[in-house]
Amino acid sequence: MMNKPIGLLDSGVGGLTVLKAVTDRLPNESIVYIGDTKRCPYGNRSKEEIIEYTLELVQFLMDQHVKMIVVACNTATAHTLEIVKKKVDIPVIGVIEPGSEAAVRLTTSKEVGVLATVSTVDSGFYEKSILGKDESIHVKSLACPKFVDIVEKNVYETVEVKKIVEKSLESFKTENMDTVILGCTHFPLLTPFIQERLGIEVALIDSGALTSHEVEKVLKAFKIEARAVNASVIDIYTTGPEETFRTIAQNWLQTSQLNVRSISLERLELPHD
Ligand code: DGL
Repeated sequence: MMNKPIGLLDSGVGGLTVLKAVTDRLPNESIVYIGDTKRCPYGNRSKEEIIEYTLELVQFLMDQHVKMIVVACNTATAHTLEIVKKKVDIPVIGVIEPGSEAAVRLTTSKEVGVLATVSTVDSGFYEKSILGKDESIHVKSLACPKFVDIVEKNVYETVEVKKIVEKSLESFKTENMDTVILGCTHFPLLTPFIQERLGIEVALIDSGALTSHEVEKVLKAFKIEARAVNASVIDIYTTGPEETFRTIAQNWLQTSQLNVRSISLERLELPHD
């Protein structure tokens, strides 16, 4: 069990921000990642579709014999985490709890912002999670669907994108907002522009980094952490074309030790009862 990989899933490249944090923290662990690029974005899809697609990704990871699953997508976490937990007999964690816990700890003004996909914002999952820990906190959420597309197209460092980020966040920040959760795993790639627009005094929470602590805790609790170096190459699967995915992954992870493979959607299909 200890030598098996950790499985991560996302609708596309976003979960690589979580993958990076996990490999930085746990360099001995081997990783299998799947990004459903072909059906990305999930954030504009119905709850039913998000559940169906996520369960397919989960089964794919189970077929790779993973020892734990990280739902490295806020949209999928919001709608499927409890369902996935019931489906499999290995530990499963999402990215929303770690991010909202950190926000509650960090905010002193008690005004917290959440930037996420339409579906995550509509689910109210972040509000629920934050208010469940401290009901005096005021949460303001904003859906930024354009951001996902920008990151997937690998144009997230351009001047045009800087303008889009500025425009999208124009009237988002309230006077006292001191903490903002990047509630979509694609958004950390836009951190420089988001930080510049919101101001240096605002703490940006990247749930990837926090999730990696949670991964470590869970591995220890279940006594399944890798004891020796297992990881040499990271296995990455995408339902879209390999090239863009590989470029983004190499830039973000700063390594060429990646095995990026494209798989067809048919390979993910689950038998219907
Ligand atoms: N990266 C995903 C998230 O964290 C979703 C992006 C999308 O597919 O809309 O929500």
